[in-house]
Amino acid sequence: MRTFGKSWFRQGSLIADYGEHFGHGVRQQKQAIALEASKVDAELASKAKSEFIANMSHELRTPLNAIIGFSDMLATKTVTNPEKVVQYSQYIQQAAEHLLALINGILDVSKIQAGKLSVDLEPVALANVLDQCLFITDAKAKEKNIAVESHTSERVPLILADPLRLKQILINLLSNAVKFTPEWGRVRVDASVKTADFLTISVTDTGPGMSAPEIETAMSPFGQVESGFSKRHEGTGLGLPIAFALARLHGGDLQIHSTKGVGTRVSILIPLATSLNRPQPASNPLSTHQ
Ligand SMILES: Nc1ncnc2c1ncn2[C@@H]1O[C@H](COP(=O)(O)OP(=O)(O)O)[C@@H](O)[C@H]1O
Ligand SMILES: [Mg+2]
Repeated sequence: MRTFGKSWFRQGSLIADYGEHFGHGVRQQKQAIALEASKVDAELASKAKSEFIANMSHELRTPLNAIIGFSDMLATKTVTNPEKVVQYSQYIQQAAEHLLALINGILDVSKIQAGKLSVDLEPVALANVLDQCLFITDAKAKEKNIAVESHTSERVPLILADPLRLKQILINLLSNAVKFTPEWGRVRVDASVKTADFLTISVTDTGPGMSAPEIETAMSPFGQVESGFSKRHEGTGLGLPIAFALARLHGGDLQIHSTKGVGTRVSILIPLATSLNRPQPASNPLSTHQ
């Protein structure tokens, strides 16, 4: 019986020499391509990093300039009208709060990018975490007459999550839904097992919706979609990319379905506590070293 293994190419034969030469050429070409790819990767990583730092500096400078400008006017008594004094003090407070939110967000992003953010997974009952989140967003929803409904049943299975990080994700999704939905709109939360081993938690709103390129903007660090409802000072643009990275660190995912003029549904998939395939933290979506 003839075999077509390696031994069939006798060493020294023309075909073997050609094979050896050809193989060497292919190997060299592969190495060259790999080298080129890693160079491109490194360039992209450093470009992403410089872009992030440039954006970050700009974002930090804006509220800092407001704080310096308004406090300067108060300190030099350029403004004496008591109403203006109160108004300018409020501007300073808002800018300082925005700065704090930015710094917290930037710290999270840089920890995620460096692969230093870990999640402490434990069996969690969604209802407990969700109630706390709904309580936090309730005041803002009432202010805008937005009905927030939770359609999650008590029988939702336990999930494997880091309660604090899960709360951070849900607060961002709920506050986005309430923030971008106009008055008298509706927001609903659903939870069900749609995919084996995962609980899908969705926040759906009747807000302005986003097109595909707008979703891409929303998912990038500092990305905010221009719309009549989202004023520049109302957020950092870091919430969604952080929520996405956190969902991936749980071994899950974040998906956005949105239609302009109809509304948005943001869903996160979190592994069930009973999941047989224990989640491996997925690749780091904010990493600049992929
Ligand atoms: N439910 C939503 N409906 C419409 N637009 C949204 C919604 N959620 C997020 N967006 C858009 O995505 C952008 C990024 O969201 P996010 O990262 O949470 O940042 P932030 O809330 O701080 O602006 C928002 O500024 C907004 O333009
Ligand atoms: Mg947000």
